[in-house]
Amino acid sequence: MKALLLVGGEGTRLRPLTCNTVKAMVPILNRPFLEHMVSYLRNYGITDIILTLCYLPDQLEAFFGDGTSFGLNLVYVMEESPLGTAGAVKNAQQYLDDTFLVFNGDIFTDIDLQAMLAYHRNRQAKATIALTPVLDPSAYGVLETEPDGRVVRFVEKPKPGEAKTNLINAGIYILEPDILDWIPQNRPYMFEHHLYPHLLKDGIPVYGYAGSGGYWIDIGTHDKYRQVQYDLLEGRCTAVLNIPGKGPAVYPGVTIEGEVTIGDGCRIGAGTRIAGPSAISENCIIEDGASITASFLWPQARLGKNAILNKCVIGRESVIGDRAVIGEGAVIGDHTSIEPGTQIAPGSR
Ligand code: GDD
Ligand code: MG
Repeated sequence: MKALLLVGGEGTRLRPLTCNTVKAMVPILNRPFLEHMVSYLRNYGITDIILTLCYLPDQLEAFFGDGTSFGLNLVYVMEESPLGTAGAVKNAQQYLDDTFLVFNGDIFTDIDLQAMLAYHRNRQAKATIALTPVLDPSAYGVLETEPDGRVVRFVEKPKPGEAKTNLINAGIYILEPDILDWIPQNRPYMFEHHLYPHLLKDGIPVYGYAGSGGYWIDIGTHDKYRQVQYDLLEGRCTAVLNIPGKGPAVYPGVTIEGEVTIGDGCRIGAGTRIAGPSAISENCIIEDGASITASFLWPQARLGKNAILNKCVIGRESVIGDRAVIGEGAVIGDHTSIEPGTQIAPGSR
């Protein structure tokens, strides 16, 4: 089975992290997000992967090339202007001639694709949508189903109180190729607002698959970006990829507590305390007496003497001055300098 990944969105909710790095390439425990995703697919024997994009694929191509070195056959399909989630799939029609899988490009999951495919085939569905429970469905698409799983209603981003269930569209679909006939060519069209409501109106069999029970998160906000890494480090979900630098590291005079990943080439000064779950990318410099708790440093970040980080993200090559305090929820972009002694604590607002 082929998989098509929707990696076209701008990742605006992850800014400033996505100012220089496309959303699909943001590091998750020091590996690009998309590398985790394609490894998960490869584990199911899915090696033909179509990446649909609406910006230049430079960063993806520079890392993955044609996929050969990752055991994959990758195809890049470009949109001149964003065609929306379903329009992007239509744009790749020439590659789709059999049952195929569609993935939102910002989902971290371990759901059982084999079981979902069996469900799809058993019900002779034209479209099967994976469902996952969330506490607050208002940021997602909500599906109402019959007891046998047939979808009766799809409401994207329901207003508070409007959702009748907390089972949401997990952004993972198994589709039959004739579904493509319902999608117009060369104009923006969304699964969520257009295609699914249209299919339901026409009585086409669309099913919701709630059987996965697996881990699921949309990494597209700052909180979720930290959360997925906490969950990976603390074993609430399993990474398919080997995480570099995980495990006991010995740095003289440095206290390391909890789950911490440290990339190659880091310099860590004496008297520093690093508390997990945290990940420090390669070639970071951490000066004496600094304290890091539940935070993420991108490559070549530099932390001054006695600086304090708590539940924050520091971008590539950024410099945090001596004694600065960066607090909960703060996200410092790439190449940013924070003056010594500065206090940034958005979480306490
Ligand atoms: N190629 C392409 N072209 N990709 C696109 C486009 C486009 O025009 N627009 C969005 N995408 C990609 C994004 O990059 C992302 O990976 C995915 O489609 C979903 O877009 P988001 O912007 O992240 O949507 P969302 O998270 O608000 O909502 C979607 O995902 C939820 C699950 O996380 C919807 O599908 C919801 O129904 C769903 O519950
Ligand atoms: Mg999303």
